[in-house]
Amino acid sequence: CGIIGCVGHDDETLDVVLDGLETLEYRGYDSAGVALAGDEIDVEKKEGRLEALREEIATHEVDPSGEIGIGHTRWSTHGPPTDENAHPHTDESGRVAVVHNGIIENYQSLRDELESEGVTFTSETDTEVVPHLFAANLETDLDAEAAFRRTLDRIDGSYAIAAVVAGDDRIFATRNDSPLVLGVGEDRYYLASDVPAFLEHTRDVVYLDDGEVAIIDAEGWAVTNRDGEPVEKDVSTVTWSAEQTGKSGYDHYMLKEIHEQPTALRQGLSGRLDELSGEVTVDELDTVATPETIHFVACGTSYHAALYGVELFREAGVPAQAFLASEYATGPAPVPENGLVVGVTQSGETADTLSALREAQGRGAVTLALTNVVGSTAARECDHALYIRSGPEIGVAATKTFSSQLTALNLLAETVTDGATGSRDLVAALRDIPGDIQQVLDETTAEEIVDEYRDNESFFFIGRGLHFPVALEGALKFKEITYEHAEGFAAGELKHGPLALVTRNTPVFAIVTGDGERARKTIGNVKEVEARDAPVVAVTDGQSDVERYADHVLEIPETHPRTAPMLANVQLQLVAYHMADRLGRSIDKPRNLAKSVTVE
Ligand code: G6P
Repeated sequence: CGIIGCVGHDDETLDVVLDGLETLEYRGYDSAGVALAGDEIDVEKKEGRLEALREEIATHEVDPSGEIGIGHTRWSTHGPPTDENAHPHTDESGRVAVVHNGIIENYQSLRDELESEGVTFTSETDTEVVPHLFAANLETDLDAEAAFRRTLDRIDGSYAIAAVVAGDDRIFATRNDSPLVLGVGEDRYYLASDVPAFLEHTRDVVYLDDGEVAIIDAEGWAVTNRDGEPVEKDVSTVTWSAEQTGKSGYDHYMLKEIHEQPTALRQGLSGRLDELSGEVTVDELDTVATPETIHFVACGTSYHAALYGVELFREAGVPAQAFLASEYATGPAPVPENGLVVGVTQSGETADTLSALREAQGRGAVTLALTNVVGSTAARECDHALYIRSGPEIGVAATKTFSSQLTALNLLAETVTDGATGSRDLVAALRDIPGDIQQVLDETTAEEIVDEYRDNESFFFIGRGLHFPVALEGALKFKEITYEHAEGFAAGELKHGPLALVTRNTPVFAIVTGDGERARKTIGNVKEVEARDAPVVAVTDGQSDVERYADHVLEIPETHPRTAPMLANVQLQLVAYHMADRLGRSIDKPRNLAKSVTVE
């Protein structure tokens, strides 16, 4: 989701907020809303894209006006995209309005508590607890700032929040694990999830940190810590070009989305891991019975995620199989009793996957959509849905959604096999994965490596076990955006045919982690290609001696065997990206490809 707030001296606030939301639509676009505060608060919100909200506002005889405004563009995580679930959310009296990006983990217990006190909720969102708590705190004679702080003391989770109070000329905001920046204009001040939201008006930005509280009014801005003590903040000046603006300073959406992976994964894990007990709890899966067999149907990148999922279930002793969705109907697999068919689909709209899921349903299977889009066709038609919470992905080549799918598959396997597949170690590794990915992003040398291979025309990617799907994905990403020939292979299969293609002109990317038998065997395969003079790039955690046989190394931190493929994959995403960039390809919109293919 994207949030914005603006305080000015004039009546342009509504336009500033709406225009700002337009630049934030990349963060979500299934519903939008604004609140303008004066003596009363005027809220307008609408399901659908921002355009629907603009039309709604235009049909009003009196335009909402006011100098203090907040706005929101939504990507659903709790409750489908409807007018009621759109933000801003208010308390019963309409005295407080709140916009929120992120997840409030303890919302259910707060909601139960508020309902027992007689509060009526009007939406299915986690956010709505915030205005009710805030309003209750205002009732106890606290001033608005103290009431806001007391509200924050009650909520857990990842969030960026902006709130307004009727009759108060300030906007109160804070962040924890969700982005929020402050914009310093000449006579207007801004808060937003991302800089482009106000870049048209000011380039002076204050980057807020977790736990800080920002307050803006028409006279200025102030940042304090949770306890109310002032925090010194630097004002930085953004120097992006207009072309980079929509991409938050990145040259391409794909690169931006690669860098969003730590946030996407934090969001996907939020409230779903209990480190103390080592347990995984996913509300959406409460009613999913432990399957005796599991089938996955998927296409493209999502199919590679499905192959990874198969391994997790097999490790837990549940027979599992992945099918290319387009092949599912032609080679009917018997739907077993007590079986589960999972459609892995980022968009939830891929025609091949939908038809495979319908086929499975027609044969009596229980179905589950593992998807990024609440309210998508797959989510609506399946018996169950598990949301990966990656946020919208604009680059045609899937990046962050693949990582989110792998994470969600771990949650699925842990939950429906009753924790049989993993352990406390896995929960700890999942908790650390956003930070580990950040480390890869900070320290990668992928950009330096690609120059050496830019004249090659065939590239191979090999991996074993859980790294095999990542080898396939590394090759798919590479071919999609560089237009060069690339193939992924199970490391051990190379010698059964593809080795005939290996020469000094075919760089081989080999994923090797740990120092166990799989690593040793893959190193054997590396030696086979090295003996044919092929250049080798090892993606490794440094635990084996694969580096001895490699021309280059892309390092990843040591982690759990389940999470290592996610880190290796980030390096391969960066290899594909930088090579495509060197070759001047159309990275965000590769030729002949579409983000979501709605024909069979
Ligand atoms: C298209 C995209 C791929 C994607 C596939 C499945 O072919 O170009 O990047 O992996 O669809 O998409 P889904 O939305 O079902 O995950």
